[in-house]
Amino acid sequence: MADSFSLNDALSGSGNPNPQGWPGPWGNQPAGAGGYPGASYPGAYPGQVPPGPYPGQGLPPGVTPPGGYPGQAPPGAYPGPTAPGYPGPTAPGAYPGPGVYPPPGQPSAPGAYPAAGPYGVPSGPLNVPYDLPFSGGVMPRMLITILGTVKPDANRLALDFKTGNDVAFHFNPRFNEDNRKVIVCNSKLNNNWGKEERQTVFPFESGKPFKIQVLVEADHFKVAVNDAHLLQYNHRVKNLGEINKLGISGDINLTSASHTMI
Ligand code: GAL
Repeated sequence: MADSFSLNDALSGSGNPNPQGWPGPWGNQPAGAGGYPGASYPGAYPGQVPPGPYPGQGLPPGVTPPGGYPGQAPPGAYPGPTAPGYPGPTAPGAYPGPGVYPPPGQPSAPGAYPAAGPYGVPSGPLNVPYDLPFSGGVMPRMLITILGTVKPDANRLALDFKTGNDVAFHFNPRFNEDNRKVIVCNSKLNNNWGKEERQTVFPFESGKPFKIQVLVEADHFKVAVNDAHLLQYNHRVKNLGEINKLGISGDINLTSASHTMI
């Protein structure tokens, strides 16, 4: 069945990111083709509004989404940072909580950041491959946001949540695997790739901007792209505190990579 819930649903409501009783399963089943028709946004966050319409998501013919990007919504609508011109909302200076910790020495770090308070997102271009460190590992309610643009004629991109040489979570959109688009997820433990989990819903497009949000939950990583839930990946590396780095690689221009707690 189509999974009509986006990451925003997980962020809304009581503060429990995954309350019991949601309709619809949260497994790795493919989402509905052409977007998430009929998606609803119950239990809105204070001030939360639904994201802008997606291609195929109930817009009347000829109506262009405001802002011109899929999922773009008014400023401040969602927790977590983003940047102008990308899918999703934009709210410079309005990000809640301890947001962005650019790694030292990378071109993203525009000098020192204040220890607390609202501050912006390092904006690109960032060098790819790029490493985003997590000083204490990852933990439930950590939200990682990656903004970029897929290069024209892209072949692949990858996110690798790493612990040493192991890859706890490999998220690998492939634009042309035997003329098909597929997202391959896997883990690499002791130098061996495990069993792949494949997703044929493919929200990336060559030449287009994207937003990837990865929400760490107790049992899985949950991934949304352009504000629509895409997949979840059960933790194979159970010690989340060991997952201390995200590698971002592939055929993209990278604008920002950041994390925050929700
Ligand atoms: C391999 C590929 C790796 C990784 C892995 C995932 O074929 O070389 O980069 O994507 O599949 O299972």
